[in-house]
Amino acid sequence: MLNESVRYLDGTLYVDNVPAADITAQTGTPTYIYSKTRVLHNFHALREAFAALNPHIHYSAKANANLALLRTLIDAGAGIDAVSAGEIVRALAAGCTPDNIVFAGVGKTPEELHYAIEQNVGWFNVENVDECRLLSEIAESEGKTARVALRYNPDVQANTHPSIATGHKGAKFGLNRDDLLYVLENRASYPHIALEGFHVHVGSQLGDTSATVAGVNAALAIMREYPQLQTLNIGGGFPARYTNDDLPDYSAFAHALQPLLNGYDVIIEPGRSIVADAGILLARVLYVKEQGGVTLYIIDGSMTELMRPALYGAHHAIVPVSEPTSTTPVTVVGPVCETTDVLGRDVPLPSMQHGDLLAILDAGAYGMVMANTYNQRPRPAEVMVDGEAWQVVRQRETIADLMRAELENA
Ligand code: LLP
Repeated sequence: MLNESVRYLDGTLYVDNVPAADITAQTGTPTYIYSKTRVLHNFHALREAFAALNPHIHYSAKANANLALLRTLIDAGAGIDAVSAGEIVRALAAGCTPDNIVFAGVGKTPEELHYAIEQNVGWFNVENVDECRLLSEIAESEGKTARVALRYNPDVQANTHPSIATGHKGAKFGLNRDDLLYVLENRASYPHIALEGFHVHVGSQLGDTSATVAGVNAALAIMREYPQLQTLNIGGGFPARYTNDDLPDYSAFAHALQPLLNGYDVIIEPGRSIVADAGILLARVLYVKEQGGVTLYIIDGSMTELMRPALYGAHHAIVPVSEPTSTTPVTVVGPVCETTDVLGRDVPLPSMQHGDLLAILDAGAYGMVMANTYNQRPRPAEVMVDGEAWQVVRQRETIADLMRAELENA
């Protein structure tokens, strides 16, 4: 959806004060463009909505881990939620202090745990009984104690796409109640971890607040029995507005959660809601054809740049860079040799031809981070707009980049 940063001015699509087409005239397409203003707007809106709880906000780097974007949020006061050594390295490179990093993940390797301990990462969100033992041993070998939040799987069903729900029974995420209680009762067996909190994250793009509230209540019911547990990490999951559907905003979550959480130290890990609507993917029409009564716009962007439509049937609005006066429904597809490489169906677009530019909206979250090089397609450039200024914050990959690791070993 269009917003205050991504909108038409005098019939031309702008990102803040820069016409999107001016950028791609220099960078080529496909290119991701991010609005720094919008990222900060979203971050501040979250902070204000939850002000009464004064939470630690750890931006979930998995949503978009571009260094310039991480730096923007870190400079604004965010910590980072990292799920791999790679994300920790990026967080540190972008200026995050190690104590402001939470390290989460269902399958952390011994090497990753070692690295995180060495770097003095602030929190470990632990999801496995064996991980407690391993982490304690590694911390001991470094002469340290790791601060731990146990990730609880509260067995609640989130109102979201099944592929991005995480808090239900049978999901691979978190510790079930028995395992959680086992760890708490046997905490003396893990002398080099300090059990100080719980973590619950029930899913992403949440359609309502109920699963989060249920998950938090379930966690608090156990935490009350263990006074050393004073921190609750309530995860992320706040939805982005890909459509006009009515979805809860930050205030709705804050109002529902605040009465429960007074007196606790609260951590929040938002990803999507901070960056989704701050990013667009600019692409160019290559060809137009009719097939079975459908008009196909074949563009130079595809499922390799933005997997969400192909992977989850996700909806992303697609608009031309020149504001249309009349539109007809078309199907927008990429060049990749997969039937599922469809960016949008029944997309209202004007008549377009070779070379015309269009923008796939709300592509700032889980876009570039999930891009891949299938069909040997180099990953796109990334640009950050800051008011009137803009800058390439990641170069377009080249075909030579894709071959390098092979040629060096040949
Ligand atoms: N914390 C944990 C433990 C998570 O697993 C996630 C997301 C987040 C925080 C951030 O959630 P957010 O605020 O972004 O909803 N690729 C999918 C989304 C996967 C979400 C994974 N976990 C998509 O494109 O919809």
